[in-house]
Amino acid sequence: MEFVSQKEEEFYGMYHPYLKLARRRVLDTLDIICEEEGHEIQHIYGRIKSPDSMCKKLDKLGVPQTPEMALTQVTDAVGIRVICNFLDDVFSIVNLITKHDGWKVVQEKDYITVPKQNGYRSYHMILEVPVRGRHIMVEIQIRTISQDAWASLEHQMKYKKEVPHQKLIQDELKRCADELASTDMSMATIRELLETGAV
Ligand code: GTP
Ligand code: MG
Repeated sequence: MEFVSQKEEEFYGMYHPYLKLARRRVLDTLDIICEEEGHEIQHIYGRIKSPDSMCKKLDKLGVPQTPEMALTQVTDAVGIRVICNFLDDVFSIVNLITKHDGWKVVQEKDYITVPKQNGYRSYHMILEVPVRGRHIMVEIQIRTISQDAWASLEHQMKYKKEVPHQKLIQDELKRCADELASTDMSMATIRELLETGAV
C-alpha cells in the first residue's frame, strides 16, 4: 500500500485553526509595523510544520505524536521567515518585534553575531502569540538574502549525507558562508555611502 502523508488539519485537529490564525496574524502584523516604521522587507512567508516532519521531531523528543505535544513541546509548529536586503534591516526588525506589545519573546538566538560552526547565520526568535485565549508559539527566522541563499542550499545538500570528501565539502560551505557575510558587510557600506555620503 502506498504511504499517504497525514493532512495538516487531520493531524492538528481542533488546534489547526489556532496555528493558521497565529501564522496569519504574525505575517500581517509584521507587514504593518515594518511599513509604519519604514523598514523594507524583501520577502516574508510562513508555514505550518508538516505532520510528517512534526511527527519525526516528536519521536526524536520521545513524546507521543499528538497535537497537544506538538503545541507544547515543539516551538516551530508555526514558522515565519523574514528575508531582508541588508544586515541593518535584520536588527531593525528584531527591535520592532521586541517592542511590539502583543507578543512575548521567549527565546532569542543571534547566529549572526555568533554564527554556527558550519557558517549558518540567521537571527531566531520564539514568540508567544495570543490567539483566542491561548498562547501559540511562533518561531521567526530573520536573515539577509545572502544568508537565506546559503541556508537554503546547505539545507538541500544536507540530505546527501553519505558522500566522499565530507570534510572538504564542510570547509567549502563554511568558506562560502564567510564570503557571503563579507559581501553583506560591503553592501552595508555601499548603502551608507549612498545615503549619507560618508562612512
Ligand atoms: P531544531 O533544529 O529545530 O530541532 O531546534 P534547535 O534548538 O537546534 O534550534 P535552532 O534555533 O538552532 O534551529 C532551528 C531552525 O533553524 C532549524 O529548524 C532550521 O530551520 C534552522 N537552522 C538551524 N541551523 C541550521 C543550519 O545549520 N543550516 C540550515 N540550513 N538551517 C539551520
Ligand atoms: Mg537545530
